[in-house]
Amino acid sequence: MDRFTHLLMQWYAINKRDLPWRGLTDPYLIWISEIILQQTRVEQGIDYYEQFIQRFPNVQALALAEEDEVLKYWQGLGYYSRARNMHAGARYIMEHYNGIFPQQYRDILRIKGVGTYTAAAIASMAYNMPYAAIDGNVYRVLSRIYNIDTPIDSHEGKTLFAELAQQVLDTRHAGTFNQAMMDFGSLQCKPASPLCNTCPMSDICLAYKNHTCHTLPVKEKKVHIKKRFLYYLCVTNQQYIYLQKRKTDDIWAGLYEFPLIESDTPLLWEHIMEHPYFTQALQHCQFSLLHTSPVYKHQLTHQLITGQFFYLDIQAGAPHWPANVLTVHQDQLYSYPVSRLMEMGLARMP
Ligand code: ADE
Repeated sequence: MDRFTHLLMQWYAINKRDLPWRGLTDPYLIWISEIILQQTRVEQGIDYYEQFIQRFPNVQALALAEEDEVLKYWQGLGYYSRARNMHAGARYIMEHYNGIFPQQYRDILRIKGVGTYTAAAIASMAYNMPYAAIDGNVYRVLSRIYNIDTPIDSHEGKTLFAELAQQVLDTRHAGTFNQAMMDFGSLQCKPASPLCNTCPMSDICLAYKNHTCHTLPVKEKKVHIKKRFLYYLCVTNQQYIYLQKRKTDDIWAGLYEFPLIESDTPLLWEHIMEHPYFTQALQHCQFSLLHTSPVYKHQLTHQLITGQFFYLDIQAGAPHWPANVLTVHQDQLYSYPVSRLMEMGLARMP
């Protein structure tokens, strides 16, 4: 066995975290936990995981649920396509495998939203199959231990790290090894301040020897951050309020929100008031602007969202919204899944 592998397994035996999905062999539960943990910190993920599996304890329960309810359980976690894909995945497993989770790596990979990382995690943890699961932790740990500066987002880098990960994998304990990598990456070999002073790998770590820990791993592509300005119209009309459902090809797909004016430059109330969307909808109404929310900044991976809410109340007349806008009783408002930004807007309602 590789010296690194040996030290890692030894480190894990002493330092492993006690997490609710540890030691499980039910592929469904592993699937849920890994999808949650893909873009979510473990501390935040635990609560969502517990709530989610209590309501949807198996493939069938998830498949039978409505998408809105699944999204409601995901509310606040971000990257909502994860939940929509899992829901579709559960229906796919019902249809193609009679609700029995597939047991071959290739078949697991065909489930919507499951990529090579998740398929390897499930195959190794549920079935002890020898697949290395490669996530950000693994790139960081391996790039440092072996002092590799090949960009991890290049084709060459992906191939190189995949081969290396497979080479150092403890094939007889693949599930344990994969989890050891994750814990070692998040607790010891941390992104910004790795704990090299207490690290049992420091003797074999080439980045430690060469003082390159802080420059690794290397990425070649700089993410371009797009700026978007969202102005929400929270319009009340007696006991009713208006919502729309977001489309599938954009952020927050499937979530609900107030009618919206979007712009790629900042707008003020005087611009909003004269915007064709606004005048179309409210020209035959008598309304008052009750108040205006603060301006919220919401950072996503590739977008910086600036959002603001305008709270309007209609005193007379009926609004003419586009066809996709729903009229909702205010008592029902909180049953709809919404984004974090919308939660902020809801909290400020008069
Ligand atoms: N990150 C992703 N998957 C994980 C797991 N199973 N345990 C800890 N951290 C993780």
